[in-house]
Amino acid sequence: MFWLLTLLAYLLGSLSFAILLSRLVDGPDPRTSGSGNPGATNMLRVAGWRLAAVTLLGDLLKGYLPVLIAYLAGLSAQQQAWVGLAAVLGHLYPLYFRFRGGKGVATAAGLLIGIFPPAALLAVTAWLLVFLLTRTSSLASLIATPLILPLLAWQHPAVLLPISMLTVLIVWRHRSNLQDLLAKRERHF
Ligand code: G3P
Repeated sequence: MFWLLTLLAYLLGSLSFAILLSRLVDGPDPRTSGSGNPGATNMLRVAGWRLAAVTLLGDLLKGYLPVLIAYLAGLSAQQQAWVGLAAVLGHLYPLYFRFRGGKGVATAAGLLIGIFPPAALLAVTAWLLVFLLTRTSSLASLIATPLILPLLAWQHPAVLLPISMLTVLIVWRHRSNLQDLLAKRERHF
């Protein structure tokens, strides 16, 4: 059951809502416009808030639903987290789009809501605070994501290993943002 759900989570995570929605409405391809990232932030830049909101919801649900199903199937908390991580891997390296996907923040948020809601609340609050102060989505993601690790180590150590790997992956996927932030040329809203 664990491996089957892991595979299904990867296949679900591979559905990039940004790319699919932009095709559906015949809008700009987020991979070749704005920052080039197929995610909700870039959809907000290039396609408007409605499509960005649907992208955010879809990407969030594909992290949340596999965890929920793994929970209902009786898998352990750590196994639920590995299944959720497979969904994030699908988003980062999607099977249907030549393995070129997004940065994983919304899908990781969905995973966290399913695994440990207090960590999701902390991450979303930190993200919103940093975003409101700096108007920079990538900086908000880079600060909010690692912030949950001490809380998990303290309150939910069973999922620390998969969520630490998730954090490393998200920071790795933001490496171009990190370079742009350091060079003071990162995009703001
Ligand atoms: O969730 C992605 C965000 O952190 C950065 O997106 O488009 O500004 O590279 P973008």
